[in-house]
Amino acid sequence: MDAFEVNKTVGAVLAALLVIFGSRTMLDIIAREHGPEKPGWAIPVKEVAAPTKEPAAPFDAAQILALLPKASPDNGHDTFKKCMQCHTSDKGGRTLTGPNLFGIVGRTRASMAGFPYSEAMKTHPGNWTFEELAKYLHDPKADIPGNKMAFAGVKDNAELADLLVFLRKLSDNPPPLPQ
Ligand code: HEC
Repeated sequence: MDAFEVNKTVGAVLAALLVIFGSRTMLDIIAREHGPEKPGWAIPVKEVAAPTKEPAAPFDAAQILALLPKASPDNGHDTFKKCMQCHTSDKGGRTLTGPNLFGIVGRTRASMAGFPYSEAMKTHPGNWTFEELAKYLHDPKADIPGNKMAFAGVKDNAELADLLVFLRKLSDNPPPLPQ
């Protein structure tokens, strides 16, 4: 074997190695770049159709007022338990987180002397008629944005009507129900 032959053989071997290793590396790279089709386990997820609920009708205080003649102050007393952590209801009762609510129906808004009402409450027009109370107690945040009563509201119409006739009785001289 002359030098030329040796070179050819070595060359052939090197070329073969290059092909073998070269293509292996290429396969590695391809495999690494593509990875498995879906990494991890595919967890079957059932598509849940969005509930086809009617959009809630906008709140209408007139519906609450219509329920007042048949509403129950006793049931309203039960609902008022939700208010008692922040409000007293007896005449001259003390201030808690919220103002005392004696005589609230018909009372001037934000009028309890010395209570630190929010600007939002002080500047909101109107006084505490049944209608204003219904709107506020249904959704305090939406009715008077920025007021500081941390209470979600009474969403059930009948429950809200019961609460209003209970509040009406917190008075020496309960105001007449609206006509
Ligand atoms: C977590 C405490 C909290 C709860 C619970 C709460 N309130 Fe209040 N309430 C307040 C605060 C504080 C204010 C004063 C809001 C302001 O000035 O922005 C307020 C204000 C009021 C006012 C206006 C009083 C006024 O003098 O103008 C009424 C009416 C009222 N609340 C009724 C209720 C009723 C009825 C409930 C129960 C269904 C209730 N609140 C539950 C804290 C509370």
